[in-house]
Parts: sequence; C-alpha cells; structure tokens
Amino acid sequence: MKTYTIAAIPADGIGPEVIEAGLQVLAAVERRDGGFALDVQTFDWGSQFYKKHGEMMPANGLEQLKPFDAIFFGAVGAPDVPDHITLWGLRLPICQGLDQYANVRPTKIIPGIKTPLANVGPGDLDWVIIRENSEGEYSGIGGRAHRGHPQEVATEVSIFTRVGVERIMRYAFRMAQSRPRKFLTVVTKSNAQRHGMVLWDEIAAEVAEDFPDVTWDKMLVDAMTVRMTLNPQSLDTIVATNLHADILSDLAGALAGSLGVAPTANINPEGLFPSMFEPIHGSAFDITGKGIANPVAAFWTAVQMLEHLGEADAAARLMRAVEHVCAKGITTPDVGGTAKTKEVTEAVIGAIRSSNI
Ligand code: IPM
Ligand code: MG
Repeated sequence: MKTYTIAAIPADGIGPEVIEAGLQVLAAVERRDGGFALDVQTFDWGSQFYKKHGEMMPANGLEQLKPFDAIFFGAVGAPDVPDHITLWGLRLPICQGLDQYANVRPTKIIPGIKTPLANVGPGDLDWVIIRENSEGEYSGIGGRAHRGHPQEVATEVSIFTRVGVERIMRYAFRMAQSRPRKFLTVVTKSNAQRHGMVLWDEIAAEVAEDFPDVTWDKMLVDAMTVRMTLNPQSLDTIVATNLHADILSDLAGALAGSLGVAPTANINPEGLFPSMFEPIHGSAFDITGKGIANPVAAFWTAVQMLEHLGEADAAARLMRAVEHVCAKGITTPDVGGTAKTKEVTEAVIGAIRSSNI
C-alpha cells in the first residue's frame, strides 16, 4: 500500500477550521478506498507563530517541506499583521521557493449552489484557469525611495521571462488538450502593456504550434470579464498572468456561486518539489470561530491533491460526495444554506461511506 506524506499548514482565520474538515473527509476516503494511506504532519506556522517568533515560518521552513509529497494549506492573513507580511512570509515563499509555477483554479457550478447568472445551471462554467504563479506582477521586484518626503517613489516591476512564460503556456496547452473541448483562451493586455505582454502573446503563438489539436483564442483582460459574465459557455481552459488570473479567478468564483467553494492547486509540474493545495477564500476573520466556514473549497482542493498524488478514483469519489451533499441543500450560509461546517463535513463523510457513491 502506498503512503503519501502530507504537510498540513492550517495557518490563520478559518484556515484551521476548513483544514480540519478537509483532513476528516480525506481520512474517510482513505478508509473507504483502502488502497493508500495519508501520513499527515501539521505545522503551526502563520500569524500566531509570527507574533511569537517574528517570522511566519522558521528560516528552514522550505527545507522542512521539501520531503513531503504534498502540502495542504489553509489561509494566511490576520487583522493585526499587515497583509504583505503574512503573504510574503509564508504563502508566496512556499509557491516561489518550491517552484510551484502552475496555479490551477477549476470552476464549475455545483448542483445546489446558486449562480448569480441567469442563463446557466449545474455543470456550466466548467472552466480551468491556469495562473502563472512564479513571476509577472508578483515577482516582488521594486523598491521605495525618499520615504515620507513629497517626492516619495515606489516601483513594482513585472517580470516576464521566456522560460517562465513558455512553461506556463505549455502547461496550459497540455491542460486544454486533456479536456474534451481542447480549447484555450490566452488572456493578455498587450494593447497597453507593450513589452511583457507582447512577449507573452508571441510565446503563446509559438507554443500553440506544438499543439495543433488545441484551438485557441486571445482576449484582452478587460474584455474577458465581459465574456465570462455574458458568454460563459464560450470558455473552457484559460491562461493568464499572475495578477490577471488572480482577479479573473475571483470573478469566476463569484459567478459559480461563492468563493467558499473555489479551490486552487499550486503545482510544480516536474515533481521536483511538493505541490500545495488550498482553498482560494482566505482567512475570513469576520466568521472565524463561528463554525460556519464553507469547507467545500477545502474538500475540492483535497480532490485536486488526490488527483495529483495519482489517486484518481478516490478523488472522483470525494468530488461526487461533495456534489451529492450540496445538491441535497446541506450547505453553509455563504451559499444560502443553514448548515454548519461540521454538518457539511459529516454529510460528506456519510456520503463517502455509503455504498453507492
Ligand atoms: C489568491 C489570493 C492571494 C493572491 C492573496 C491572499 C494575496 O487572492 O490566492 O488569489 O493574490 O494571490
Ligand atoms: Mg485572489
């Protein structure tokens, strides 16, 4: 029997609540499946750790993570620590340090979860957004000078490298090729940003040559928001820069009903380092501790983690269980239900145990 080692980093806000729920459903899938085992080690890194130690994770944090098969991550962010510290202290160093350059964000309208769009229903908005996750607008290059003076200046430089753009384009074309429609939309802003985004477009066209069976088109990011809203059926796989995809994936989550259900996978496709799986929703301190956090995003990202580990049957079973429970209306208040995190979790565990799921 295969044993996978999982590093769980629940971190801040509702992170611990949804990660605990996620680990419970994973344990249920593991028992039901019987073909593999998960060996989970939990790390107490995050904003509380920062308040005690002055850093979000230990200096050798990345070294501690490297031996694991995957990382199951909650959320970072606390009301009393600046966001750029929490983010650049934990999540971004993990993504960048472990070269998780492909960020995968699937969307789908889950039965039982209401979309704000009029003419779509369950099964629609079946998209995968591929987000460049290692450079672009999040490269961290820049600085500030003349602090506090009227001439104060700050720069935030976007970096687009040939290697970085080419590898994310290849990943996106491969993803499009693996899906039934074999259709990719490349998001850009090369009309206004005439250096990095033009390189981005050129490399997209070059890589497309190697994928003759994939149809592709190009959209300016502003027009893309309109297409996602007014013509959502015209999309399938989408690739965009770090910042563009950050914004578009929030829109995708909202159109699919709630950010509470949106998952994400930070993938190192070569498998040189562990990949990291997390809900998109963030720490949500307004509802922390109330027991009403939506665990569906954490469950869905657990599905992505099982797929990544090669446990496709277990992944599919967990996804079916989640869809079954949502369709029955057992959902948390953010998507219009009245259930608590615990009730949704127990219902999913019940569905996993039942013989016909
Ligand atoms: C996301 C989040 C993060 C991001 C935040 C927490 C900085 O919005 O994963 O989409 O912008 O990358
Ligand atoms: Mg975001």
